[in-house]
Amino acid sequence: MTTKSQELLNWIDDRFPLTSTWKAHLSEYYAPKNFNFWYFFGSLALLVLVIQILTGIFLVMHYKPDASLNASGIPVAFASVEYIMREVPGGWLIRYLHSTGASAFFIVVYLHMFRGLLYGSYRKPRELIWIFGTLIFLALMAEAFMGYLLPWGQMSFWGAQVIVNLFSAIPVIGPDLSVVIRGDFVVSDATLNRFFSFHVIAVPLVLIGLVLAHIVALHEVGSNNPDGVEIKKKKDANGIPLDGIPFHPYYTVKDIVGVVGFLIFFTAIVFFAPEGGGYFLEYNNFIPADPLKTPPHIAPVWYFTPFYSILRAVTYPLFGIDAKFWGVVAMGAAVVIIAFLPWLDRSPVKSIRYKGGLFKGVLAVFVVSFFILGYLGVLPPTPGRTLVAQICSVIYFAFFLAMPWYSKLDQCKPEPDRVTFK
Ligand code: HEM
Repeated sequence: MTTKSQELLNWIDDRFPLTSTWKAHLSEYYAPKNFNFWYFFGSLALLVLVIQILTGIFLVMHYKPDASLNASGIPVAFASVEYIMREVPGGWLIRYLHSTGASAFFIVVYLHMFRGLLYGSYRKPRELIWIFGTLIFLALMAEAFMGYLLPWGQMSFWGAQVIVNLFSAIPVIGPDLSVVIRGDFVVSDATLNRFFSFHVIAVPLVLIGLVLAHIVALHEVGSNNPDGVEIKKKKDANGIPLDGIPFHPYYTVKDIVGVVGFLIFFTAIVFFAPEGGGYFLEYNNFIPADPLKTPPHIAPVWYFTPFYSILRAVTYPLFGIDAKFWGVVAMGAAVVIIAFLPWLDRSPVKSIRYKGGLFKGVLAVFVVSFFILGYLGVLPPTPGRTLVAQICSVIYFAFFLAMPWYSKLDQCKPEPDRVTFK
């Protein structure tokens, strides 16, 4: 470094903890040396968050949250999205980056959460990282749901109608609550305006705050790794973990490999298949919202379908309360229960590498039933499909609720002292 730039750095460091922050979180933050493929998804989730915020800023410059009809009889909000797609230079790209980014966010976050399941990353002392993660997942679902109303297409409108109506099933407060959420008795301009406000500012602020808390908590305790071994237990004379390497440059460079791989996949979709076969952008959403014409089949976007299936699987009233209410309870519980994993897993080891056949088998059954739930959620229900969804929903909850027993019964292998690395 030249003397001039060193002087500038000293000047800043006297006023702001720049070098010390860089060291504490990057160049002298020691991460386990055995990170694998699964460890790309945290930094990729950060990348997608940045993509969504940047593209969102540019979309808001041209988008109009207005449900009234223009001179051609098209809702202004719908027409403003078409304007972005056809008239704004590069607008199509910005919009497809944002719409594909929404699906990419969920792909990355689902894989990131699955990594946590594989390696027991939620176990002590990382419970708070996991709880912040579950809250991020909830906020992300709210963000995606409200964003989907904005193009004001048929699916935007009817999807919101179905989901907000669910709240009216809550005893006593339900009907009033759904009016508060909509700001009207039906999904309308008032709903569009408040969802817009939540989507562009309120929920993103919460998301950013939670992501910061997630990373601060992670850096307090340090990362887990594919062996589930705590690297802080074995340190050298200088207090540096024997199995740790500085995050920068080792993992900053390694993460670039993940970013390049991700961008190849991501841009391929953006440029060649932005509709994702009707899964990323539903075909019905290219039709302007029409409150007088209900589409024959209303399905949420793919990332909500496992939870939507659980909701529809509840078909029996209980204690004199409508099945719809218990469906909402089951759907909410299916997300909230994830936060309790740190206390449900009683296995003596963290990583799947040292867990026994029982845990591996149960995890495999859980993953398969989660996919089946996701698949059923895009299809219209039939009695046969509802039965399968009920069986898979029971498996979903049993995976969590029975974990204290099967994780204890499981025959685990001994965990090594040091991480394994070739
Ligand atoms: C916007 C969404 C998210 C972002 C930006 C994010 C970011 C990150 C980053 C950068 C890391 C460190 C790198 C890595 O271990 O991959 C991390 C670790 C972690 N995240 Fe997330 N995360 C998000 C969502 C979630 C969710 C939804 C969960 C779980 C419910 C979760 C659970 C964890 C856990 C347990 C770790 C520690 C992993 C370990 O040490 O093995 N995260 N996250």
